[in-house]
Parts: sequence; structure tokens; C-alpha cells
Amino acid sequence: MKKTVGATAVILGALVAAALWWRKNPSACPYGQRFWVEVPHPLITRDRLREALAPQTGESLLEIGPGTGYYSLDVAEWVGPEGSLDIFDLQQRMLDHTVARAAERGIGNIQPTRGDAQELPYEPATFHGAYLVITLGEIPDQSAAIRELARVVRPGGRIVVGELMGDPHWVSPKAIAAHAEAAGLTVERRIGPWFGSFTVLRKP
Ligand SMILES: C[S@@+](CC[C@H](N)C(=O)[O-])C[C@H]1O[C@@H](n2cnc3c(N)ncnc32)[C@H](O)[C@@H]1O
Repeated sequence: MKKTVGATAVILGALVAAALWWRKNPSACPYGQRFWVEVPHPLITRDRLREALAPQTGESLLEIGPGTGYYSLDVAEWVGPEGSLDIFDLQQRMLDHTVARAAERGIGNIQPTRGDAQELPYEPATFHGAYLVITLGEIPDQSAAIRELARVVRPGGRIVVGELMGDPHWVSPKAIAAHAEAAGLTVERRIGPWFGSFTVLRKP
């Protein structure tokens, strides 16, 4: 009995240490572990993203860190063929996967670009809006990423940040608000509870 309790304590300790290490050393979810982004996302649902992002037909939107396209295909459909969705990811295989899924669904308005969100290759004020879901915490300099998003979104545009507690890279609403303020954005509203929500940031 004592041995079992001891072993459990060691395992739990190791898990906590690993989670803490992971938070301090952010890195992209490897393509080989894409299973984790393909399972249903509780609380941060596609319907809630739609409510937060309020996409309009014909708009140009940007998604950072699409993974395998959990949200991308629906967003591309919401803006319609007159609109466009740029997807931007560190990993080419994530982009290829999303584009292949889009092609299977007959969606042709998604443009992939590979790169690091800390320095975006887009002109200022390119997009009507942008979003990133369970991605901000994987980026080493989160402030730089939010600043870059603020730069490439048009005045009056919105940036939606989706976060879910339990993700080892979870970013709290307080931290999101601090990044927003530093980038000159206002926190407009949050959809969902603090532990699993979309925060809408607005560029003045
Ligand atoms: C946890 S996945 C989230 C995927 C998707 N948003 C979802 O909710 O299913 C994070 C994604 O962000 C990408 N990513 C991580 N760091 C990045 C960075 N610095 N620049 C661009 N993309 C990054 C990863 O490659 C991965 O595709």
C-alpha cells in the first residue's frame, strides 16, 4: 500500500514538473501529436468562435496556428468565396493537412503561409479580423505576436483569442488583457467561462 502511494506521488510529481517545464519552454504542438487538436474542443466551440469573430461575407480573415484546420474550414465557408482566409503556421505539414481537407470539402478560398507569428509577413491593415485558438501559449514572445496581429488588422478590426484551461500552454484572461493593452487594443468581451473562452480584442 505504502509503495503504491509512493509511486503515485512520484508519477504525479513528474507530471506536474513536466507541465511546468512545458509552460516555461513553449513550443509548437508537433504534427505527430495532431490527435490532440482533432478531438472536440469543449467550451471553445465553432459556434462560439462564430459569435466572437462575427465573420461577414466577403471579409479577409487571418488565422494563426490552424493546426489541422479544426476551425479553418468553417471560417472559410462563413466568409464565402468572395472572402478569404489566410492560414499561418510554423509547420508546413499542418498547413498542407488543412489545405487538403479544404480541397476535399470544395473550399478554395484558403491561402497558406508558413512562418513564425512573432513576425508576420503581411502589410499593415491587411485583414478585417484575425483569430488564434490554443496557440498563443505556444509562441515564445506572446506580446510580440499580439503586437503583430494588431499591426496587420485594419483599424476597427477584431482579434479573437481562444484559450482552454487544461492545455499546458493555457494563457489566462488576465495575461491576454495585459498583452492587448500593451498592443493598444481594447478587450471588448469574453464569450464563455474564464477557463474556456474566446476573448474579443478590438483595434481602435
Ligand atoms: C495546439 S495547435 C492549435 C490548432 C488549432 N488552432 C486548434 O485549435 O485545433 C497550435 C498550432 O499553432 C502553431 N504554432 C505554434 N507556434 C507558432 C508560431 N510561433 N507561429 C506560428 N504558428 C505556431 C502550431 O504549429 C500548431 O499548428
